[in-house]
Amino acid sequence: MKLQIINGPNLNLLGQREPDVYGRRTFEDYLDELRRAYPDVTIDYFQSNCEGALIDKIHEAGFQCDGIVLNAGAYTHTSIALHDAIKAVTAPVVEVHISNVHSREPYRRQSMIAPACLGVVCGFGLDSYRLAVEALTKK
Ligand code: DQA
Repeated sequence: MKLQIINGPNLNLLGQREPDVYGRRTFEDYLDELRRAYPDVTIDYFQSNCEGALIDKIHEAGFQCDGIVLNAGAYTHTSIALHDAIKAVTAPVVEVHISNVHSREPYRRQSMIAPACLGVVCGFGLDSYRLAVEALTKK
């Protein structure tokens, strides 16, 4: 099985960025642990701060892999283009957030991409990614 994790804007700063909200661990460090937990799953990783680059990666991976774990960061709340990209591809996409977006500012409660996704995991810290991987391995 092959899965693609895609992280959007500002998630390259995990570990440094607002540690009270997002924790003190880098994503690369967490990814090592996640890959070890799923030795039979190939987990590819991509991060970009650019909306178009995220769309290009969804197009590329979305016809080749068995599922996408997508943390679109703030584009979650704004991007119809990401919604359309998710709808365009064949791989199921799980929307992920580290924080509980529903317990934060009201503008974070709306997701433009959720209706196009298989499901949503949020609020479990970095473990949200593992829960999304687990869900996709059961598909
Ligand atoms: C986030 C939540 C978003 O609202 C925010 O813009 C992010 C991170 C999360 O993982 O909790 O950049 O997607």
